Amino acid sequence: MISLARGVPAPECLAVDALAECAKAVLEADGTTILSYGPGAGYGPLRNWLADRHGVDVSRILITNGSLQGFVLLAQHLAPGRRVLVENPTYDRPLKILRELGADVVALDMDDEGLIPEALEAALAAGDPPALLYTIPTFQNPSGRTLTTERRRRIAEIASAANLLVLEDDPYGLVRYEGEPEPSLFDLTGGNVIYSSSFSKTIAPGLRVGWFVLPERLAAELAASATATYITPVLLGQATVYEFIRRGLFEPNVERVAGLLRGRRDAMLEALAEDLPDAHWSQPAGGYFVWLELPDGTDAGGVLARAASGVIAVPGTDCGGAPNTIRLAFSYVTPAEIHEGIRRLAAAI
Ligand SMILES: Cc1ncc(COP(=O)(O)O)c(C=O)c1O
Repeated sequence: MISLARGVPAPECLAVDALAECAKAVLEADGTTILSYGPGAGYGPLRNWLADRHGVDVSRILITNGSLQGFVLLAQHLAPGRRVLVENPTYDRPLKILRELGADVVALDMDDEGLIPEALEAALAAGDPPALLYTIPTFQNPSGRTLTTERRRRIAEIASAANLLVLEDDPYGLVRYEGEPEPSLFDLTGGNVIYSSSFSKTIAPGLRVGWFVLPERLAAELAASATATYITPVLLGQATVYEFIRRGLFEPNVERVAGLLRGRRDAMLEALAEDLPDAHWSQPAGGYFVWLELPDGTDAGGVLARAASGVIAVPGTDCGGAPNTIRLAFSYVTPAEIHEGIRRLAAAI
């Protein structure tokens, strides 16, 4: 069985030996700090490095056990009983978290250029002021789409004018296969964008290190929630990440990972062109995913059920998408498995 469902890095992406050395080195150098309780907001040296990277005061940086945990802290704080705008489709876990917290989730349409600004304007005009817009502008999970620079400017303008708080979730931005980076929403607006990212895709998800850049007051409030929930995040993971960076291994690792995954993205696009000429799919310039739209009226859930003994993928409906859509992940499997997986999917269709 071939899994095109898993949005996880291929084992070859994980720099096991270098990370083992980093973990050992930090335990030897700073073990009594790392092995004890510490600040709820995270390991000081890594917070400082992130603050410098984003050009903000360190009081605005919150490091969590993966960025999804930070999302939970933020959503618990803002979302219950409030309108929250998301993209359609969007990452399935936040969607589930928001629904479980009792948010009124409003899905905004996207196209190949990302979130449609007019859909945001229409939603803002249609009801109570939302608590938040949750968006993944770059190499989106699940669609692989990237918001164009022109639309970024427009969405930044609309959000500023409406005083709308935006969460820009950007775990994939550095995993780029071609082209120049678009400006972040965070850089385009003053003050009303929260930026989150993670070392899950650029170093290793098992270290569980994600971060948020927040307005100062919200950062303090969420750090207090973090302390009340788990006392201290896992400092060993954060210190290991910091040591990896300090040794100059981060940028070369990102380049290596992008090189490895570029070939898998290419294999996925080739396989789709060969085996599913009647379908439409996104053209990701980075990240882990391709969004497959089968011809209108095709029941993707039925197709996946028929294919399940040979290949699995995520039905688009799990992410709020239409019944004819499927999320295909190319990050975990080899190019040969990708070709075979798409052949099996085509046979089931
Ligand atoms: C868009 C998006 N945000 C957040 C996450 C969670 O990442 P982390 O491992 O930092 O919790 C993922 C993981 O796949 C993701 O795709």
